[in-house]
Parts: sequence; structure tokens; C-alpha cells
Amino acid sequence: TAIEKGGYDHFMLKEIFEQPQTIFDSLRGRLDAKNGQLTLGGIREYADVLKNANRIIIVACGTSWHAGLVAEYMIEELCRIPVEVEYASEFRYRNPVVGPGDVIIAVSQSGETADTLVAMESAKQKGAIILGVCNVVGSSIARLSHAGAYTHAGPEIGVASTKAFTAQLVVLCLIGLKVASEKGTITQQRFQHLLDELQDIPEKVAATLQLNDAVKQVADKYKDARDFLYLGRGYNFPVALEGALKLKEISYIHAEGYPAAEMKHGPIALVDEQLPVVFVATRDSFYEKIVSNIQEIKARKGKVIAIVTEGDQIIPGMADDVIEVPEADELVAPVISVIPLQLLAYHIGVLKGYDVDKPRNLAKSVTVE
Ligand code: G6P
Repeated sequence: TAIEKGGYDHFMLKEIFEQPQTIFDSLRGRLDAKNGQLTLGGIREYADVLKNANRIIIVACGTSWHAGLVAEYMIEELCRIPVEVEYASEFRYRNPVVGPGDVIIAVSQSGETADTLVAMESAKQKGAIILGVCNVVGSSIARLSHAGAYTHAGPEIGVASTKAFTAQLVVLCLIGLKVASEKGTITQQRFQHLLDELQDIPEKVAATLQLNDAVKQVADKYKDARDFLYLGRGYNFPVALEGALKLKEISYIHAEGYPAAEMKHGPIALVDEQLPVVFVATRDSFYEKIVSNIQEIKARKGKVIAIVTEGDQIIPGMADDVIEVPEADELVAPVISVIPLQLLAYHIGVLKGYDVDKPRNLAKSVTVE
């Protein structure tokens, strides 16, 4: 397996480092930014259904559910279609109101997660159209879908999902852009801008991976913390959830992700000089608001680790540790801002001596409920 790991110590690290390539693969044959073209062959026949959908319901579990949350923000913004994001396990058992006119998007790396599979089956029986966003070609979820788009991230071996997540974000963004352009809810200029942004993502992810040593130093500094809090707003709120999940999975440190403003309704009670608080605070329309959330944590002596946009003039003066990532449009920024959080979880897990590729009690794919 040393050869399979391609010189990396773990599959997880290898897969984190593969992301410039896997994202490129997700875009290949679909994005033609130079000519302003976007092609999604797998959903072509359902373009009208999507365009006219009353509602989109995203069903997923785990990390895929986090990708769904980012997609909620993207699709509502781009397409002006109401989107709900559901834990498949809850959706399937509560006799949900769903039927013709609804489009379900099932997001799953493995395409075999039992709850997701059953949730989509029951929605299909009630007359909804089902799209699959899966990584594994020919998987059960892919086969049960009316249509879909594969993420093309290649086999993911590490139990904690990394490259599949960023591929999901990219593909869900492509779907949102496609529907928006068909529906006319996006200007030509914004459409072209986002195509260009997507085109640049692999390179920016590669630049972000150069921060590996810096993140490792942060990991070393905080590895003995008992708890972590992860905060973000807007597109970066689900990234905070995903960062916390990665840390729990790999390092067995208790971590909570929260919308940064909502922390005042609970988690702020936990803040003291022992608590590292990771802020996902890249420059976007929520920036000013998150700066004041950082002040609130510092006023209570929390330790702030901030993921910021390169050249940020304000947050580095406030935070204890800063990781600067390349600038990107807020719609695609999660693909970049999640990278240091993947690395942080990885390094803390390794420093603590855990088997990061096979964390205890977790399965790569939960095929029974
Ligand atoms: C398990 C894995 C996670 C994954 C989740 C959903 O919990 O450990 O990494 O996010 O299942 O899996 P899926 O294959 O449906 O994306």
C-alpha cells in the first residue's frame, strides 16, 4: 500500500493533495469558460424539469449533507428556487410533503448510503424527480436516479471524506449555474464571471495546499485542546460544520460547528482562554459581520484561528493564528476555505497518533441503518 499512497503517509493526505486534479476532473468536458459554455450531459433531458421545479430538496448524510447545505445557498441565490436540505435519515421517516414538481438531489460519495437510498426511493414513488450527485459510477443511488452528474473524484479510500466533498461542491455549483442560465435568473456577466472562477479553482486549491506546513504548526499548537468551536457565516457556515466534523472524525476532539451569529445563543458560554475557535472568515458579503463575531470571542479570551483571504488587513491584527487563502468569489470560496480545515484535522489526528485513514467506530459507507 505504500505505492498506492503515492509517497504520502496516509490515504487521507494523498486525497487532500489530489484535489487540484480531482476538481479539474469534475470540470472536464463540462466547463468551457473561454467560450462561456457549460454542458452537463447527465441532466440535459431534465433541464426543463429543473428550471420549472417548485422546490429542490437535497437529501444526504454526513459530509455530503454539508455539501448540500452549501448548494442550498448557491442554488437559491442563482436560480431563485427554494431549496431544502434534509438528513436522509430524518426525511425518510417523517412522511414528508413531497410530490410532482419537486426535484430531489441525492448527494452521496459512495452512492450506497442506506438512508439516502431509501429517502430517494420514497420520494420517487410520490412523483418527485430524482437527480443523483454521486462519486461511484454505477452505484445504487446513481442507478435509482432519473438523471444526475457524477463527481469524478476517483476512489476515495480515507474514511473521512475530503476530495469527494470538494468535487460535490463543484458539481452542485455547475448544476446551479446551468439551471440559472436556462431560467434567466443570472446575468450573462455574472455567469461568465463564475465560469472563470471555477476554471481558476484547481490552481487556487494547489496554492492553498502550499500552506500545509503552516497548518501543521497550528495543529501542533492546539492539538491538546479538549474542545474546538468552528464558526462561519453564509457560504462558509457549512464549511465550519465540515471543519468540525473532520476534527471529530480524525482526532476524537469534541468540536462543534455553528453559524457565527448563532453562537451567542449557546456556544459563547463555552468560551475561555482554553477554547480554540476556528473562524472561516474569507472576504465576502458577510465579512464585516464576522469581524465583529471575532471581537466577541477575543473579548472573552478565546483563542482565534482565522482562515482569511490573502491580504486581509483587519483580522490578522485580532486573531491568534491566521491562515491566508487565495481570494475567490464567495460562491466558490468553500472549495478553498475547507482545505486548511481538512489539513488541520489531519495533522492533529496524526500528531495524536491515531489511524486517520480508519478512525475508530466509523465506516466509509453506512449501508445499513
Ligand atoms: C459515512 C462516511 C462519511 C460520509 C457519509 C455519507 O459517515 O464516513 O465520510 O460523508 O457516510 O456517505 P456518502 O457515501 O453517502 O456520501
